Amino acid sequence: MDDSSLIWDDGALVTIDQRELPHEVRELRLHTVDEIIDAIATLAIRGAPAIGIAGAFGVVIATRAHTVDGVVDEAAVGAEADRIAAARPTAVNLAWAVQRVRGRIADGADAVLAETLDMLAEDGRVNRAAATHAADLVQRLCGDRPLRLLTHCNTGRLATSAFGTAIGTLRVLHERGVVTDALVGETRPLLQGARLTAWELAEAGIPHRLTIDSAAAWAMATGQVDAVLVGADRITANGDVANKIGTFPLALAARHHGIPFIVVAPESTRDAAMATGAQIVVEQRPAAEVTGFGTVSTAPAGTPVFNPAFDVTPADLVTAVVTENGVAYRNSDEFTEHGRFARADP
Ligand code: MRU
Repeated sequence: MDDSSLIWDDGALVTIDQRELPHEVRELRLHTVDEIIDAIATLAIRGAPAIGIAGAFGVVIATRAHTVDGVVDEAAVGAEADRIAAARPTAVNLAWAVQRVRGRIADGADAVLAETLDMLAEDGRVNRAAATHAADLVQRLCGDRPLRLLTHCNTGRLATSAFGTAIGTLRVLHERGVVTDALVGETRPLLQGARLTAWELAEAGIPHRLTIDSAAAWAMATGQVDAVLVGADRITANGDVANKIGTFPLALAARHHGIPFIVVAPESTRDAAMATGAQIVVEQRPAAEVTGFGTVSTAPAGTPVFNPAFDVTPADLVTAVVTENGVAYRNSDEFTEHGRFARADP
């Protein structure tokens, strides 16, 4: 694999199977719509931007499969696009990306592929731009000193196509030589922090320590965190932020301790059409993710479970949302615009 975590190769989407990390770097080649939907649903491919791009490649595959003698069966491809967009409900990037390439179906599979490859190329640029703005902000808020940063889940090159968002910000700050510690929440129950972020930070040579999610408030109370950096799956018009379960308590703890809580995400994660976080569909995941640890059962058989994959952090707990277009601060009921902060045209 090169630096991109998503590669188009001879009619297949090639990626790393994130279910197998960190023990094995297993290549996954996806040739069919069903394989792509399964990879997204089972988190072989995960992270809002990554599932969006993977979904778009799914539409490429569907368009190829439903083209006979150069004529596209648009209804059939549209039905497949609907299925792909529904593979996971919370991250708006999936529906956004599928919608974007949908506009090219009538022009044929090559046009859908070209649009998808554009999106793939944009993703790395967008992430680096957002991460650079976020790094500037962190240094403005925290001052010119060594930094200890806390992050949650995985927002790196695995969760995007390249570079990452919150982890991208850690990369930029590390390039500037100011990161002394990245505290990584393990991210129960699927351990994206322990399995994926610790792997990516080690790969990038960024100093880090893994901790249990419930240690975060105590780390802040004992002066070990200068800022919290997280990604997002959907940011509603009022600034509420859906992200991996466990993000909301980080924002509460950060507010209590007066620590900046910064969300780094592409514009494609902003959902201007959704008024508030109350409307976000939060994915519920299988009970087995909570009642066991790997193959070992840790709860009595049949224990009822509450297993939301995401939570929604109210806008007033968010210090800033940072995208490729710049930084927006929360200011009473309005975002005050610092730089351009309008939804980028697709
Ligand atoms: O369930 P996951 O692993 O797909 O959840 C991912 C997250 O919550 C990430 O923080 C978010 O998608 C941003 S990735 C740049």
